[in-house]
Amino acid sequence: MSNQAKLELDGKTYVLPTLTGSENEKAVDISALRANTGYITIDDGYGNTGSCTSNITFIDGDQGILRYRGIPIEELAEKSNFVETAFLIIYGELPTRAQLKWFSDLFTANQYLHEDMTYHFQGFPSGAHPMAILSAMINAASCYDEDLMHWQWGKNQQFDIYVARLLSQVRTIAAYSYRKSKGLPPIYPKQSYKYTANLLHMMFSNPYEDFELKPEVVKALDLIFLLHADHEQNCSTSTVRMVASSQANLFASCAAGVCALWGPLHGGANQAVIEMLQQIHKEGDDGSKFITAAKDRNSGKKLMGFGHRVYKNYDPRAKIIKKACDEVLLKLNINDPLLDIAKRLEEAALKDPYFVERKLYPNVDFYSGIIMRAIGIPVEMFTVMFAIGRMPGWIANYKEIMEEPKSRIYRPRQIYTGHTLNHYVPLEDRK
Ligand code: CMC
Repeated sequence: MSNQAKLELDGKTYVLPTLTGSENEKAVDISALRANTGYITIDDGYGNTGSCTSNITFIDGDQGILRYRGIPIEELAEKSNFVETAFLIIYGELPTRAQLKWFSDLFTANQYLHEDMTYHFQGFPSGAHPMAILSAMINAASCYDEDLMHWQWGKNQQFDIYVARLLSQVRTIAAYSYRKSKGLPPIYPKQSYKYTANLLHMMFSNPYEDFELKPEVVKALDLIFLLHADHEQNCSTSTVRMVASSQANLFASCAAGVCALWGPLHGGANQAVIEMLQQIHKEGDDGSKFITAAKDRNSGKKLMGFGHRVYKNYDPRAKIIKKACDEVLLKLNINDPLLDIAKRLEEAALKDPYFVERKLYPNVDFYSGIIMRAIGIPVEMFTVMFAIGRMPGWIANYKEIMEEPKSRIYRPRQIYTGHTLNHYVPLEDRK
């Protein structure tokens, strides 16, 4: 079988090389297309465009498969935790006991923000969205480090320290953003707490009393982080790679990722799902009115938490989260009417020809909001939790682009559809 593609254009035949990935994914290599033919390709939304080769995460959207460095998400969800999975994603292998200790110690050593950063927090109005604060403050954090300000990959920086600093400080910044939005003073991280427990402590403790850390709550949040840790070339990760391709520093690149994640079609969907369920509940709808509206393009409504560009099957993360959601609600003895609405919506949508024909299944965000609500995470912090979880993926993609010797600045082309040559008309002559 030929491993070359043939393209006929303007009466000429061009031969294009092809590429096959380790899971047999196939691509036509068009790197030399414009130089050889004068043509570019158009692919609105990049649905058919591979922007890179990568060995971090594999997704088979038709089969509902997700693997980090080859390991199925189901195995990691059952046996690993967020910090260990972060190491796997960033460094490519599961850590040894010694490596894990080194990694955790680096987190602890790098968890404090520069004290002057507290003044920046004060500058935000109360009620500012924590995602705005998060991206601004990740970027601001880079101003406190000479090496980050004069970043040159491979020259003077110890990348491992910046990895740990970003992963550790994103949690501190997230907690401070929340406390700022509530007008509360910051709570410092505690040496003895592990990653996820420390975040909950910084968010919910007060200066006189530590927050009670229920093991099932810590475990549920850690699982949410792990399930979000990477997802190949999605909108935010591609943004990180885009910014990184200009040789911007790690913090600046990941701050851009936070902005891309914020939108309701991406990470902001977890907040949008809860708002949708609350609206359905308030209106006393059993879900059927909302489903009818979601099928009508002109209604401006969508069934949030449903559909995915890549998954044309059940999102494997949604399966895990749905089960965890049932367990946590049972353990915490919570009866959430929104969970009942969500289950009814899912059942109705999965039988409805509109959703069936378009292969629209629940995605990770459909149930993650309910579980976060149950463990006491405020709704405006949902997408921030997604950002903390996604940080290892962004860092690994940043590292991959920096380590690629042939890496070029990302610079797509366009087909121009505006005016042809036009001329300046003085103001007094304009009609
Ligand atoms: N509700 C109703 N209709 C939908 C939905 C939905 N949630 N999602 C897609 N469709 C329809 C869409 O209108 C289109 O219909 P038609 O064929 O008649 O034009 C068809 O299904 C194909 O959808 P698309 O918009 O071309 O799909 P896309 O790949 O461009 O968008 C998506 C993917 C996730 C943005 C979209 O499904 C969506 O907006 N879902 C709701 C938001 C959401 O849950 N986002 C979280 C994604 S998972 C977390 C993450 O990784 O970001």
